[in-house]
Amino acid sequence: MQTSALPLGYVAPDFEVDSTVGVVQVRIAVRLRNHVLTQEFRDAMARLPASVVVVSARLDGRFRGLTASSLVSISVEPPLVLVGLERETMTRAAVLESKAFNVSVLTRSQEFIADRFAGRAPAADPGWSDVPHSLGSNGVPIIEGCSAWLECKLVQVHAAGDHDICVGEVEAAGKGAGDPLILWDRSFWTLR
Ligand SMILES: Cc1cc2nc3c(=O)[nH]c(=O)nc-3n(C[C@H](O)[C@H](O)[C@H](O)COP(=O)(O)O)c2cc1C
Repeated sequence: MQTSALPLGYVAPDFEVDSTVGVVQVRIAVRLRNHVLTQEFRDAMARLPASVVVVSARLDGRFRGLTASSLVSISVEPPLVLVGLERETMTRAAVLESKAFNVSVLTRSQEFIADRFAGRAPAADPGWSDVPHSLGSNGVPIIEGCSAWLECKLVQVHAAGDHDICVGEVEAAGKGAGDPLILWDRSFWTLR
C-alpha cells in the first residue's frame, strides 16, 4: 500500500557544465555520459525496496539525525550493521567524532519523522524538540514508537564515493510493533 502522496527524491546534485575553454567539449561529453549513467543507476536503485530508518548521534550535548535507507545487517557474531552516510551530512560528522550511533526503524505512521530527518519539514534544533524520543544507554536518542532499535559503537569507516560506509557493532537492540515504512519507486509504502 502506498502511503506517500508525493514522489520522494534522495537525490544529490550531479550535473554541471564546465565552461573551461579548450577542453570544454571533452568535459561536457564525459559529464553527459556520467549523467545518463547516474540517472539509470538512480532509476534502477529506485526499484529496490528498502526499510526507512533514522540514524541518530550525539555530539557536544546536541542530537543529530538523518533519514536513511542504506542500513544493512552484515554479521551476527559479532553483531554488525552498516549504513552509508553522505559525506556532507551533519549526522555523519557527529557519528565519526563521537564513534557511536543509534538506529530507529520507522513504522508507517512515522512518515512525518522520515520527512523531518531528511530535512524536508520545518524543524527546530534540527528536528528533535518535538519528536518523541528516549535516550539509549549510550545517551543517543531513539525514536519513540519505532518498530526496532539498535545502539551501535562505530568500529569501521570506509570511504565509498560521496558516502562513508559506517560499520557499527550492536551493543543493545530491541523491538517494538507496527508495520514497516518502506521506500520503493521514490515513494513511501507499507505492507498492507
Ligand atoms: C528516503 C530517504 C532515504 C535516505 N537515505 C540516506 C542514506 O542512506 N544515507 C544518507 O547519508 N542520507 C540519506 N538520505 C538523505 C538524508 O536524510 C538528508 O541528507 C539529511 O537531511 C541529512 O541531515 P543532516 O545533515 O542533518 O545529517 C535519505 C533521504 C531520504 C528521504
